[in-house]
Amino acid sequence: MLTKLKWLIVAGARPNFMKIAPLIKEIEHYNVNKRENHLSILPFLVHTGQHYDDKMSRIFFEDLGLPKPDIYLGVGSASHAVQTARIMIKFEKVCLETKPDLVIVAGDVNSTSACSLVAVKLGIKVAHIEAGLRSFDRSMPEEINRIITDSVSDYLFTTCKDANENLRREGISEDKIFFAGNMMVDTLLSHKDKANESKILEKLRLTKNNHVKDYGVLTLHRPSNVDDKEMFKGILKNLKEISEFIPIIFPAHLRTQKQIKAFSFQEYFDDSFSPGYSRGIRLIDPLGYLDFLKLMSNAKMVFSDSGGIQEETTILGIPCLTIRENTERPVTITEGTNTLVSTNSDKIITYAMQILNSGGKVGRIPKLWDGGTAKRVVNILMDHSLRC
Ligand code: UD1
Repeated sequence: MLTKLKWLIVAGARPNFMKIAPLIKEIEHYNVNKRENHLSILPFLVHTGQHYDDKMSRIFFEDLGLPKPDIYLGVGSASHAVQTARIMIKFEKVCLETKPDLVIVAGDVNSTSACSLVAVKLGIKVAHIEAGLRSFDRSMPEEINRIITDSVSDYLFTTCKDANENLRREGISEDKIFFAGNMMVDTLLSHKDKANESKILEKLRLTKNNHVKDYGVLTLHRPSNVDDKEMFKGILKNLKEISEFIPIIFPAHLRTQKQIKAFSFQEYFDDSFSPGYSRGIRLIDPLGYLDFLKLMSNAKMVFSDSGGIQEETTILGIPCLTIRENTERPVTITEGTNTLVSTNSDKIITYAMQILNSGGKVGRIPKLWDGGTAKRVVNILMDHSLRC
């Protein structure tokens, strides 16, 4: 008789979608090609609705070829406590109704910690994709989410060796830790060709006679950077100075757009996309995965406070200046193209000029960032299911 293992796969916010897409494809592949010992996997995709705007969610389902979620919780935006509580209440009902064998969560957003807590309290096993990353900065909501999730997970899939070390130091038993590689890299490598067909460079007038001009890309959304008026102003002033030498395209997160309006910061941006523009910061809406990948792949440099972009630029070999005091992804600095430039200094200008003059860091690809992570994760989970 065929036994179907029920796996609830949770996604809630933009960066989650890139981390679960390869897993869903690999499960399909497993069911068709590798089914063993009468075991197959019945996946349910649960979207918490933490991100709900088309530009933050639907476009990623389209670009990544993700199936429509089986279950949509529709929690929306709220304070951390309210958002987390709403997810927990709704997800508990889902778990009670579907009785899954496993809950899989990814990354470090509120949906990740909320769903892992619910699952463990119901005695359901939890797998965490991207376990063990630590910024050692507990003022970041993501750091709290990481610690909570890792402390209750049964299968901790890490992207790099230093994450294994962090988990060991926290007393997590060795047999729960699996260095499997980086799921987001699976997504990037499998979508690179498709992204190449995007017409975003033409749309933003970044090409001339089939030649791509030099430009930088900026993303900013961390509450610590954009919720404090003076902090945000200081960052924009430095970037404005850099943009005198190279135009910067800024696809801004919706929370950042709200802050720009609230602080009346429109003066920092140029809205003309005239054919020959060569300076200034252009503020645009958030882009879908394929357009953003194309934009990032052709940039001279990237400025960001995102976690995922530090990794993606490392794979693409594009210098990344991270506007933060710390990173939970040190391998992108020691091996990749990332440099921490802090938030309140003009270090960012010095490094940007270096990149303009000499090209910046080249880096190398970290171990197991090779496109095979989803396969390793599914194989490990199935090996353990067969043993149980
Ligand atoms: C969340 C994650 C962060 C991740 C980021 C990627 C947490 C604690 N933070 O931050 O780790 O890097 O996603 O984008 O989980 N909003 C909209 N439309 C949306 C979603 C959000 O307008 O679809 C606005 C709302 O005003 C909301 C604010 O953005 O209050 C913040 O959204 P939220 O999901 O709470 O956190 P993010 O800042 O997006």
